[in-house]
Amino acid sequence: MNHPPLKTRRFRLLLLVPGVIAIAAIAVSMNLQGQAVAAQNAKKKSHASSLVQFNKDGELVRPTGYRKWTYVGTPVTPNDMNGGNAPFPEFHSVYMSPDAFDHYENTGDFPDGTVIVKELVSVGDKEATSGIGYFMGEFVGLEVSMKDKTRYKDKPGNWAYFSFGHKYPLKDHAKAQPAASCNDCHDGSADDDFVFTQYYPVLRAAKNSTKSN
Ligand code: HEC
Repeated sequence: MNHPPLKTRRFRLLLLVPGVIAIAAIAVSMNLQGQAVAAQNAKKKSHASSLVQFNKDGELVRPTGYRKWTYVGTPVTPNDMNGGNAPFPEFHSVYMSPDAFDHYENTGDFPDGTVIVKELVSVGDKEATSGIGYFMGEFVGLEVSMKDKTRYKDKPGNWAYFSFGHKYPLKDHAKAQPAASCNDCHDGSADDDFVFTQYYPVLRAAKNSTKSN
C-alpha cells in the first residue's frame, strides 16, 4: 500500500482536531439549549397545577399561598352603601397567579391556567386617625376563578368559578359552579375575558404596558 509520509498524516490529523472540537461544542450547546427549552416548557405546563390542586373527584382544593401572588385590586361594596344588605358587604382583595400575570403583561391575554383569587375581608373600623372610611377587618371568605381550556372546555370562556364559603371555617374543596350562577354575569359585564379589569388598575396598567411596547 502506498501510505503518505508519516509527517503528512500527522498534519492531516492536526487539521481534523479543531473541526472535531467545534462539532462537539455545537452538539453540547444544542443539547443544553434543548434541555433549557424542555425545562421552560415543563415549567409553563405545570405552573397552574403547581399552584392549585384537585381532589380525586376533580374538585378544586382550597388554594393557599395566594397572598404572595400578584395583587390586582380591592373592590368594596359595603352594606351601608347598599341599603344595609349588600350581597358581598366586604372588601374583595383580588390576587392573580404570578406566571399568568407575567403573560398578561407581555401579551394582554389571560393564559390557559390563569387562577384568580378573590378574598373577602370584612369591613372593620370606620374611623381612623387618617379620617372616616372603611378599614379592613377580618378574613371572611374566598372565591376563585380559573381558566383551563382542557379541564373546563364546556364552560363559557373556559372559566370555572368556585366558592369556598362566606364564613370561616372555609370549605377545603369546591366544585365548579354552574355557568348560570357565575359565568353569565362575568361574561356580560366584565371588561376583559370574563375578568372585571375595569376595577383592577394593576391589570389595566399591565395591559397598557403591552400596547406601548
Ligand atoms: C351579578 C354579577 C355577578 C355574579 C352572578 C358573579 N359575579 Fe363574580 N364578580 C362580579 C363583579 C362585579 C366582580 C368585580 C367587582 C367586585 O368584586 O365586586 C366580580 C369578581 C369576581 C372575582 C375576581 C376576578 C374577576 O373575574 O374579576 C371572582 C373570583 C369571582 N367574581 C367569583 C365569582 C363566583 C365564584 C361566582 C358564582 C358563585 C360569581 N363570581 C358570580 C360580578 C358577579
